[in-house]
This record gives sequence, structure tokens and C-alpha cells, in this order.
Amino acid sequence: MISVAIDGPAGAGKSSIAKLAAAELGYIYIDTGALYRAIGLFCINQELDIHNKNAVISSLDQIKINITFKNKEQRVILNGRDVSDEIRTEQVSRTASVVSAIPEVRAFLLSLQRSFAEKNNVIMDGRDIGTVVLPNAQVKIFLTASPEERATRRTKQLEEKGITADYEQILKDIIERDYNDSHRETAPLKPAADSVTVDTTNLSFEESVARITKLIKESAK
Ligand code: DC
Repeated sequence: MISVAIDGPAGAGKSSIAKLAAAELGYIYIDTGALYRAIGLFCINQELDIHNKNAVISSLDQIKINITFKNKEQRVILNGRDVSDEIRTEQVSRTASVVSAIPEVRAFLLSLQRSFAEKNNVIMDGRDIGTVVLPNAQVKIFLTASPEERATRRTKQLEEKGITADYEQILKDIIERDYNDSHRETAPLKPAADSVTVDTTNLSFEESVARITKLIKESAK
């Protein structure tokens, strides 16, 4: 089995790039951020104080998360309910960033993530895939772009959906999330020692997909 780990900060384009590369190569694409988001959503719905670590840890007993595929698209099932669309809000992003810093939450999701790579060729995206989840992945990519470029892309994306977007606020959120994700004690966001960094600041989407696909084809021979 071949495993490809793509890690990097929020908004670098990991999921859209990885999705296309996976389709082209016939691999399964797994978005691991969705799992942390599902836990975040659970905490929001239960009105849990996410800064109370013990409360979050005890609630893990009541959480069952599964990944299924519908038309080859990943769906995330939280306690029997498909929450794939609900987990895409800014509130869920912020909550996921906080709960993902708790080691017990990370341990809770580890075997689910690994189980996919045991049985399939996968491209898995996240923050710690190359460092912790799949340390033996044949290909490790650290995908990044400047915070300003990521905020510009996100602003455009929202505006295209007809949602008013505040560039300065988005930039502030991105910088804050980068800080949280890379300064936590457990599995902080950082390039694996044996990863290749791809900076997409000055690359178009198509160029980014081509770069990643080429890297995978070359390294997974
Ligand atoms: O990639 P994303 O924005 O959907 O991720 C949501 C949050 O989950 C993000 O703040 C970081 C965290 N995360 C993580 O800690 N480890 C992963 N493998 C994936 C995401």
C-alpha cells in the first residue's frame, strides 16, 4: 500500500489539491481535519466548555465517528448522523483548533486514521500525518502559502458563494489558527524531517495539483 501524507496550515489548499491528485492517481483521499471538526461540533451541540480539558476528555465516551464514502466523496458520520456539511462553519473551525490540542482527543482519532492506510492507497491531509499518524508514508509533502495569500483565497471563495467576507478578520483568524496549531505541545504542525515543502503562494491551483501529482508519481515508484 502507498501512503501520501500532506500536511500544512489552514487554507493552503491541501484538501482541494489532494482531492484532485487522489482522483487522478486512483487513491482514496482522507481529510483528517473533518474528524477534529466533528468532535468540535459535538462539543458545541452539547454546550461543553472546550477550555475545560477534562470535560472534553470525558465526553469522548459518547462520541462515535466514522468515515464513509458517497460518490467517492468522504462523509463524516458523528453518532450515526452525517455532519459533513455542518462542520464547515468558522465556529466549528475555531472549536476544532482548541480541542485538537488535547492529547486524548488526538489519541482517540489515531486508529481510525491509520486503519484506512492499512487497506488502501491513500492521500491523507492534516497537520501531523507525516510526523505522527503515518510516519512511514512513502511520500510526505508540507503544503504551505503565505498567510496573506491564504486569506485572499478564502475571501474570494466566500464572495463567490455570495457571503460577505472581511479580509482583515479572515487574515487574523488564519494567523491565530496557525499559531494554535503549531504551538501546541502534542503533535504540533511542523514539516516532517523527510518531507518536501511545496509553497503555493505563487502557483495557480492547476500548477499546484500538477506539482503534487508529479511528486507523488516520482516518489511512489
Ligand atoms: O484542516 P482543517 O481546517 O479542517 O482542521 C481543523 C482543525 O483540526 C485545525 O485547527 C487543526 C486540527 N487538525 C489537527 O490538529 N490535526 C490534523 N491531522 C487535522 C486537523
